[in-house]
Amino acid sequence: MLVMLRSTYEDMSREAANIVAERLRRKPDMVLGLATGSTPLGMYRELIRMHIEEGLDFSKVTTFNLDEYVGLPPSHDQSYHYFMKEALFDHINLNPSRVHVPMGMAPDVEAICEWYEERIRQAGGIDLQILGIGSNGHIAFNEPGSSLGSRTRIKTLTERTIRDNARFFANKEEVPHLAITMGIGTIMEAGELIILANGEKKADAVKASVEGPITAMMPASIVQMHRKAYFIVDETAASKLSPDMLEELTGRPNGQPAMHS
Ligand code: GLP
Repeated sequence: MLVMLRSTYEDMSREAANIVAERLRRKPDMVLGLATGSTPLGMYRELIRMHIEEGLDFSKVTTFNLDEYVGLPPSHDQSYHYFMKEALFDHINLNPSRVHVPMGMAPDVEAICEWYEERIRQAGGIDLQILGIGSNGHIAFNEPGSSLGSRTRIKTLTERTIRDNARFFANKEEVPHLAITMGIGTIMEAGELIILANGEKKADAVKASVEGPITAMMPASIVQMHRKAYFIVDETAASKLSPDMLEELTGRPNGQPAMHS
């Protein structure tokens, strides 16, 4: 795992978009794993800009989203289907037949989970997976305590996640309690991972995931085991890392900001 510290949210987002664009130019039919949440929005904006201004071509790309709430139709403005359409899909040239988001309204959720795993296999596996991190260290909707070898399945959301995500809904009661999520085992099979974190709210989870023990109680800590994972953080999300780690990342004692003379 490589930790990359960038000064601002914009720098973090640009860095991530540059990695995606570089991989895409090298492999135009790449399989790209996508994430929701506010964190990757800046990266999506930059990818859209590259598509419009630089002709970055998504026409042969296959995508798989990490997760979806159970019980929300794709037309619901808080469903991840809707979110992805607004944030990315409507603005680039993906082929809709190659876009996959778990179906939260499926009558047989278990069958959908198995089908999702099968589709990923048929596509040849995910080349590059984008991830955010929950304030409790979850990745996708793999809450603390999730098996580190888990596959795509249905999960119950923790109170903390429901509280965190309530800001997007009219009130907390509207937040679904169940979600379909790729498993941690599924995510770890991706060829490369980009995990993004910005803001003070993520500083504890970043510290525990980067410096702490690998444990199911901090699902993002498993990323330490991935050979090609880029953990890209902004300064506030990195603010609780140990002085030694900060010095290594910045090349400056205690991670002090550079002096301008
Ligand atoms: C949700 C998503 C996660 C995401 C997390 C953080 O719970 N299922 O994939 O990483 O929120 O969201 P945000 O980026 O808004 O902080």
